Amino acid sequence: MAVDLLLGLQWGDEGKGKIVDVFTEKYDIIARFQGGPNAGHTLIFDGQKHVLHTIPSGIFHEDTKNLVGNGVVIDPVIFKKELENLDKFKTDYRKNLYISRKAHLILPTHRLLDAASEASKGKAKIGSTLKGIGPTYMDKTGRNGIRVGDLELENWKEKYRLLADKHESMIKFYDVDVQYNLDELEKEFFEAVELLKSLKFIDSEQYLQLAQESGKTILAEGAQGSLLDIDFGTYPFVTSSNTTAAGACTGLGVAPNKIGDAFGIFKAYTTRVGSGPFPTELFDEDGETMGRVGNEFGATTGRPRRCGWLDLVALRYAVQINGITQLIMMKGDVLSGFKTLKVCTAYKYKGEEITHLPFNIEPENVTPVYTEFSGWKEDLTKMTEASQLPSEFMEYVKFLEDELKTPISVISVGPDRKQTIHR
Ligand code: IMP
Repeated sequence: MAVDLLLGLQWGDEGKGKIVDVFTEKYDIIARFQGGPNAGHTLIFDGQKHVLHTIPSGIFHEDTKNLVGNGVVIDPVIFKKELENLDKFKTDYRKNLYISRKAHLILPTHRLLDAASEASKGKAKIGSTLKGIGPTYMDKTGRNGIRVGDLELENWKEKYRLLADKHESMIKFYDVDVQYNLDELEKEFFEAVELLKSLKFIDSEQYLQLAQESGKTILAEGAQGSLLDIDFGTYPFVTSSNTTAAGACTGLGVAPNKIGDAFGIFKAYTTRVGSGPFPTELFDEDGETMGRVGNEFGATTGRPRRCGWLDLVALRYAVQINGITQLIMMKGDVLSGFKTLKVCTAYKYKGEEITHLPFNIEPENVTPVYTEFSGWKEDLTKMTEASQLPSEFMEYVKFLEDELKTPISVISVGPDRKQTIHR
């Protein structure tokens, strides 16, 4: 069977956790392929809210296997907290959770390095979640990293010490004030590693190969979004992994010709946490309303998200780069009550009107060109069928489908599993 992908098409926080959870019924295996605890995937069911950071969002389904792939970076300390949280819900993660031996570990000193690097940047800071993601991927590409499989070797602590010592000298190099007590951090880290070691470590590329051959259905769960991709996002204000379709191939060991559907998920408007350009950002009452009604606060850091109109220039780019076959639109319900809605269809750039994403999208380089729509008043959150959706809402949907040349097959009208309309 081909491997399907579920990818965020904006700056993350599109609602991937909820949709993976809804889709899980159709899949035998859910596999995370990049990112780490910088992600916060929120799932709501039976009146309970669950936030996952590294563990795939299929974990609440009894018969689904969940794989943390080689492209993911794991912080054992945060992982332990996630597992303890699952204990409360009697989720049998020992049966259903697999971890790639080739996934890299986030060390306490990676987190400290992240903090030092950000502090040294001053106003130019990325707005990182400070989970140590960047420094861990730097060690991966620098060929210094420690992998999950290393934990099975006798001498892994020697390797750990050498790397942690090197990090400490790098922290000093930054010459900023980062307070820490490494002994305490290491105690917590080594305890968490013991729990991690009690889980199933596997050669995940082979596991997925065999699963495909035996007809198992697999969904690769993306983290962050296409505009945070290290190559195609708004560099340098991006994360440190490939969040796009290609990342699923390298982050799981799946061949490109084995990819099936690529589901692209987007919000009916746009949000962003952290720094970086955001052409359709709103600084007025409309933006404030989106943030308040949409409860736009980061699931990992609690930071308020910046809000703005839907940007079709950026969305079109993400659809193309990922080869999206079906779209999933989230949070249309948040736009109920707006008299007029705007969608950015082009940018004014160097005196021209363009519809592709240029190299620079800072405010001084691009001005959004908007198309306006009449809003709708109806509360969508109780609607269960596409036929109940207001005509103005459907006009908005139809316009997006035409512009993006891709069907919107799922419309989410609230955070709960049940608030999902399949078309
Ligand atoms: P890092 O990946 O923690 O280094 O953060 C780099 C940038 O990506 C920052 O602007 C973060 O706010 C953003 N970012 C990282 N992970 C997520 C996410 O899961 N959702 C939204 N933004 C994210």
